[in-house]
Amino acid sequence: MQTGIGSIAYLAASVLFILSLRGLSHPSTARRGNLYGVAGMAIAIVTTLWLNGGEALPAVAALMAIGIAGGAILARRVEMTQMPQLVAALHSFVGLAAVLVAIASYLSPAAGAESDSAAQSVHNVEIYLGVFIGAVTFTGSIAAFLKLQGVVGGKPLLLPMRHTLNLVGVFACIALGYVFLTAPDADVGISSLLTMTVIAALIGVHLVMAIGGADMPVVVSMLNSYSGWAAAATGFMLSNDLLIVTGALVGSSGAILSYIMCRAMNRKFLSVILGGFGTATSTASKTIEGEVAPVTVDEVGSLLRDASEVVIVPGYGMAVAQAQATISEITKKLRSKGVNVRFGIHPVAGRLPGHMNVLLAEAKVPYDIVLEMDEINDDFSNTDVVLVIGANDIVNPGALEDPGSPIAGMPVLEVWKARTVVVSKRSMAAGYAGVDNPLFYKENTRMLFGDAKGSVDALLSHLGA
Ligand code: TAP
Repeated sequence: MQTGIGSIAYLAASVLFILSLRGLSHPSTARRGNLYGVAGMAIAIVTTLWLNGGEALPAVAALMAIGIAGGAILARRVEMTQMPQLVAALHSFVGLAAVLVAIASYLSPAAGAESDSAAQSVHNVEIYLGVFIGAVTFTGSIAAFLKLQGVVGGKPLLLPMRHTLNLVGVFACIALGYVFLTAPDADVGISSLLTMTVIAALIGVHLVMAIGGADMPVVVSMLNSYSGWAAAATGFMLSNDLLIVTGALVGSSGAILSYIMCRAMNRKFLSVILGGFGTATSTASKTIEGEVAPVTVDEVGSLLRDASEVVIVPGYGMAVAQAQATISEITKKLRSKGVNVRFGIHPVAGRLPGHMNVLLAEAKVPYDIVLEMDEINDDFSNTDVVLVIGANDIVNPGALEDPGSPIAGMPVLEVWKARTVVVSKRSMAAGYAGVDNPLFYKENTRMLFGDAKGSVDALLSHLGA
């Protein structure tokens, strides 16, 4: 009876998680999607405690209280721009949990032990896979966290024969797997399991350290995917259907997101997940010609007043400056004067998927004027003014024109095709990929130097006058 009710509750939670993912796919339904996710997780936790709580309930409740307090503090303190490293750190917990649960399941035969030897072998395979994926996820996520936090440099660590090293590591894990599955006693079993854990942990660090800073967004979503598969492996180990479904949802959605991001950045999916395998070393970049033309707020105001088609392209600098609310006000003002204002969003603008969409939604910019790169790229030639706010790599023409550029081949917003491009940033500094941007030297580009918030505030008061 109890198990039957539990299964129904788990099914309801699974459906809520699927609805949550569906809701999160569009800004207008994201809030509802989030609520579905929260409801699903609440059902999952309560059901699991009800089914398994027993004597462990006080200890679990105490640990949950610590987790909830920690989560609440992090949610308040962490800036939007620090989300990638927070996500990477959270993935490391999933990986570590998978390793610990699997080792505990091996050491405590009562938990999840099977009655016949075939089922026990399958259980041991689940343990071994859970530890392997969990260890790679754990240390890979820590390496990603340290890179994103700037504790270790963004340059790829390219050890000699690095792919051979990875292959040797994987073969050693396979060989140890054979020893583990045929172990005559628990001592041999646990020592092969722990040796493999160390090797898998080293593979995790090495895979991520070999990836350059510009590919880190894909790595974070790949680790998201790995953490899902680690959870699914734990679900098989514990015979918990909900954990299997949830793990598979996280694993596959993370893999799909990584694939979409690879396409947006013109990276080869396999090359990124194999730690930079096949990454071409870029040849020397072209020298940039042309002069930089600074512009004043008053001049930008006049350009906007005379325009009928305006596109705003936000980037990481808008998030840093927290300029979105003023930009929303400027949009309202221009639209009330009959100017057609739209936004062009690059899939990897900012520092996390959907970063710009979240900020614009928070600033109440209407969804229907926020367009994806593919929807707006053909319209730039009919645009009077493009306002680039704190964006750099995503509007770099070098990606299309310079085969020697480190971001060569990455699709970008082709803003230079507009009549005039105004770029708001503080200096001539490069963006995330560390590449110079020929856009700033083009004849139709005007540089509005200064902090984006200060610049757009001044622009708003100019337009209001
Ligand atoms: P970036 O190329 O990083 O350029 C941002 C620009 O903003 C900088 O050149 C900086 O120039 C300017 N800036 C910074 N603070 C500013 C402020 N207070 N006021 C005005 N400008 C300011 O950003 P992007 O164009 O959005 O491209 C995103 C990059 O990040 C891509 O290379 C992408 O691959 C990478 N990335 C993306 C993600 C995801 S998932 N979106 C995650 C990690 C990395 P100044 O210093 O001169 O002001």
